[in-house]
Amino acid sequence: MPRINYYHLSLILLFLLLRSSLFVESAIGVNWGTIASHKVSPPVVVDLLRQNKIPKVKLFDSDPEILRALMGSGIEVMVGIPNEVLGSLASSVSASDAFVVQNISRFMVKGGADIRYIAVGNEPFLSSYQGQFQQYVLPAMSNIQQSLTKANLAGYIKLVVPCNADAYQSPSLPSQGAFRADLTQLMTQLLTFLNSNGSPFLVNIYPFLSLYQSSDFPQDYAFFEGSTHPVVDGSNVYYNAFDGNYDTLVAALNKLGFGQMPVAIGEVGWPTEGAPSANLSAARAFNEGLINHVLSNKGTPLRPGVPPVDVYLFSLLDEGQKSVLPGNFERHWGIFSFDGQAKYPLNLGLGNGVLKNAKNINYLPARWCVANPYKDLDTAGNHIKLACDMADCTTLYYGGSCNAIGDKGNISYAFNSYYQLQKQDAKSCDFDGLGMITYLDPSVGDCHFLVGVDDNVNAGSTAHRVNFGFWVLGLFSMFVYICTCGFL
Ligand SMILES: *[C@@H]1O[C@H](CO)[C@@H](O)[C@H](O)[C@H]1NC(C)=O
Ligand SMILES: *[C@@H]1O[C@H](CO)[C@@H](O)[C@H](O)[C@H]1NC(C)=O
Ligand SMILES: *[C@@H]1O[C@H](CO)[C@@H](O)[C@H](O)[C@H]1NC(C)=O
Repeated sequence: MPRINYYHLSLILLFLLLRSSLFVESAIGVNWGTIASHKVSPPVVVDLLRQNKIPKVKLFDSDPEILRALMGSGIEVMVGIPNEVLGSLASSVSASDAFVVQNISRFMVKGGADIRYIAVGNEPFLSSYQGQFQQYVLPAMSNIQQSLTKANLAGYIKLVVPCNADAYQSPSLPSQGAFRADLTQLMTQLLTFLNSNGSPFLVNIYPFLSLYQSSDFPQDYAFFEGSTHPVVDGSNVYYNAFDGNYDTLVAALNKLGFGQMPVAIGEVGWPTEGAPSANLSAARAFNEGLINHVLSNKGTPLRPGVPPVDVYLFSLLDEGQKSVLPGNFERHWGIFSFDGQAKYPLNLGLGNGVLKNAKNINYLPARWCVANPYKDLDTAGNHIKLACDMADCTTLYYGGSCNAIGDKGNISYAFNSYYQLQKQDAKSCDFDGLGMITYLDPSVGDCHFLVGVDDNVNAGSTAHRVNFGFWVLGLFSMFVYICTCGFL
């Protein structure tokens, strides 16, 4: 006769508990932003995601090319709604109906895209927006929810709102976390909405920015290797900024009566260039530490054993056209460079080893534009300015991999960036005769002179389809012509 003692019983109970909703297995996903000058085609990026077994992707809009490429991939998708369109979605259900029909349900056919979340706005409560978007968030959510219900998708797709620490200000201790006073009412409504739909609170956490913005921020506190400056909060001790920030949010949720709400991390990561603390080894240490921490299921002092439901790394690829207002690092958050090449070995903990590079990148020919060594380059200043206003030259600055390549190197780098941006159009390497095209890679050390990619692969295949269409049409008219003639 089997004997079940208390020990066994508690094990069974524990097992049942673990299997219930209390136990969340975190999944690692990535943000896929597209503010880039050299865009790799969406099917190539989707292949990169699949090669790396990345199960979830977060987008900032609902680009049909990208959603089409994600169809049939099995990858779970969070689409985004830019802040600028919240107003129109908030104004009428017919606008949200149109959005759901055109941008969502169209892709959710059998074998289609697996859209699971819609991010309504992107950090719409930021105080720097001075309230211009926040009034639209809840009306837009309620309209979209109605439209999803009509489309029979309300049970499948959840609405979320990406926020960052700005929404709960930073007190010195996590337990003092509270939403900004001016947001209390709005947050209460938002949390009620999220709670009634079983949606998580989506938060972006950036220890890098804390370190970058404050010179007295202890460097080791930004990482996960323990800290000589832990934050002691009553009986809780914090050894890393991620946990501290996370529990500040948990405390804020507690205060409004939503202490059980699941939390997902919408963005978290570390840039590789553009500031002294933005470099390959720091990015690798941070991301590895983060992934191990999350997958250990340790949780945080306020939520022991309950890690975030999902974690979306920021970011998949570098985005060379992003605004550098926050800093030059803003264009260098990718775990892959713009062309899908892993910047450093990183194990995403998805049972797939370290990052695998993108395949079938459609590079432009191996040629570069550099400063002509036989010319007087004194007048190059204006050309550099124009080139770098349009192309990305952020690696030339302090904290960048090309900061020490000298005067002539600077000019060549700027010329080449512009030339590649112009898809190697010969005229774009003129610079009043100061530029010249070379077939020898001018890269020096860690400073890589890029070769652009040709993102017109898709346009090419569309052109073929069009041509094929004409061809069929042509055959058909010939056929009609022959028949008519024969008939006459
Ligand atoms: C829906 O998709 C179209 C592109 O197909 C885009 O122009 C529009 O802004 C999208 N709507 C929203 C609300 O994101
Ligand atoms: C990279 O960044 C880390 C973290 O801020 C810093 O400690 C380190 O000195 C940097 N490494 C280099 C080579 O600059
Ligand atoms: C190259 O340009 C960068 C950015 O303007 C500057 O910091 C650096 O000093 C320049 N190098 C030389 C040798 O002029």
